[in-house]
Amino acid sequence: MTIGEVIRRSTDWLAGKGSDTPRLDAEVLVGHALGFERIRLYTEAERPLTPEEVAQCRALIARRGDLVPVAHITGHRAFGRLDLEVTPDVLVPRPDTEVVVDVVVELAPPGAAVVDWGTGSGAIALSVADLRPDVTVAGLERSPAALAVAVRNLAAYPALAGRVRLLASDGMAAVAGERFDVVVANPPYLVPGDLDRFPALRHEPEPALVAGPLGTEDHRRVAAEAADVLRPGGLLILEVGEGQADAVDGILVGAGFGGIAVRPDLAGIPRAVWGRMPPE
Ligand SMILES: C[S@@+](CC[C@H](N)C(=O)[O-])C[C@H]1O[C@@H](n2cnc3c(N)ncnc32)[C@H](O)[C@@H]1O
Repeated sequence: MTIGEVIRRSTDWLAGKGSDTPRLDAEVLVGHALGFERIRLYTEAERPLTPEEVAQCRALIARRGDLVPVAHITGHRAFGRLDLEVTPDVLVPRPDTEVVVDVVVELAPPGAAVVDWGTGSGAIALSVADLRPDVTVAGLERSPAALAVAVRNLAAYPALAGRVRLLASDGMAAVAGERFDVVVANPPYLVPGDLDRFPALRHEPEPALVAGPLGTEDHRRVAAEAADVLRPGGLLILEVGEGQADAVDGILVGAGFGGIAVRPDLAGIPRAVWGRMPPE
């Protein structure tokens, strides 16, 4: 079989197994098995594979057929300008979250002190620090295993080390008493039944995904905690799930935030909701 044939067959097989990006998955995994950049899969599409190479590709594609995230199979995932280590201990960083990063990067005042509540792999914290060299970021994480992944990701970008702190923290506990200009969070926002509805999520950590029966319990918690640590005029920027924007708007208003605004993701789904504390 040639590289092109393996990719075509894998694409068809993965489509039947429920992958919503079968061609992309096949290319990334075949490229990973062969140690190739994706462009080389095209320039060498007619090259025949050895039986060993076919077996290596098959082993990776078979795992994806069980809906193991591609990032768990390859061990990393691109997020914005960064390439992040990903393990089953952290949420796989999603392109949707890049919209939230965009809002922080646009709206954080010069020299801002930023908190990333629930940093997981460090995706938001490291991207904000990368794109805004004037800000400092505290990434807070309750799961020790997830925090260890974030720490390794920060170590891979030594230029950010002086401006990013990664702290074990339940909520804002580790930064109580400090004051910030921006709080950003992509909190858990699913309801328990969602895990049965979306089998693709079954390999990711449940505490990173599920909030409670409403789905907005952690948004409410972050809003209350943010109101305590933000300076007057400070910003709270939250990622929301599909259909949650109105509820989270109400939660922000109830916690004392004003000027509520919303930005959609690339699919047009409202994804970032933000508001501001009143000025002094
Ligand atoms: C949806 S994931 C987001 C991870 C990462 N920020 C991202 O956008 O890819 C939510 C993260 O919040 C963390 N978390 C949940 N409850 C928390 C709490 N009370 N305090 C700190 N972190 C929490 C979870 O462990 C998980 O890593």
